[in-house]
Amino acid sequence: MATNGTTRTVTIRLQRFNPDVDKKPVMKEYTLEITSDTTILDALEQIKATQDGSLTFRRSCRHAICGSCAMNVNGRNTLVCNQRVNAHLDRKGAVTVRPLPYLPIIKDMVVDRTSFWEQYQRVKPWLVPPDDVPEKEFRMTPEEVAALNDAEKCIMCGACYSACTVTAVNKRYIGPHALLKASLRVLDPRDTITNERLIEISGNDGVFRCHTIFNCIDACPKKLNPTQAIETLRKLAQKREAFVAARKERQKSL
Ligand code: F3S
Ligand code: FES
Repeated sequence: MATNGTTRTVTIRLQRFNPDVDKKPVMKEYTLEITSDTTILDALEQIKATQDGSLTFRRSCRHAICGSCAMNVNGRNTLVCNQRVNAHLDRKGAVTVRPLPYLPIIKDMVVDRTSFWEQYQRVKPWLVPPDDVPEKEFRMTPEEVAALNDAEKCIMCGACYSACTVTAVNKRYIGPHALLKASLRVLDPRDTITNERLIEISGNDGVFRCHTIFNCIDACPKKLNPTQAIETLRKLAQKREAFVAARKERQKSL
């Protein structure tokens, strides 16, 4: 590894796969000059611009907001737009980037997220409010807002879904991303289909399928806690009727 003032030479190892010519993925190395500010996404852009224009990956916002640049860096799922190369170099000055695991590869870093989105749709991730919408606003208490536990900050990047070893072997499992979203709606006092939601998430492919592996927490770039959301849903599913009755009562004073 050579260093030169504020720049240094590093090796970026990339998993490449072109379905038109490759039978299986291959690892390729690229040598690059970086600065201390170069992100892994910058490095990929640089390789694409100067060494191999066929390198394919998804990105959009470059600010950890859109969720499209999730990849696997040195064995761990993360967003690559907010990770500096320097922070991930091994002793030889190299970093390894692969696509999100356990999902079909379309090309290079681009994976097929169909199962991810299908499970998301399955939990009806939208709010179903009461028919009588107040003229001004619904009033939630600070405690009710706090219970949502920042779940609305999820950017749907897929890092948790692809880190979960249950989804790896069972694509019918709803998955941490969709269960986190389901918990957001179940805990929202404005939502009116609580009973239907709890029945859906407590079925064969739902919360009781989670093995509490915690990979989803480790992978989340927003530091959210899908495991806790799943645990909360499990408890609510077990006292579904009482919870649904309490929800109806609460909606009278919203
Ligand atoms: Fe998977 Fe997270 Fe459960 S990694 S098994 S959803 S705790
Ligand atoms: Fe949008 Fe990374 S490019 S989250």
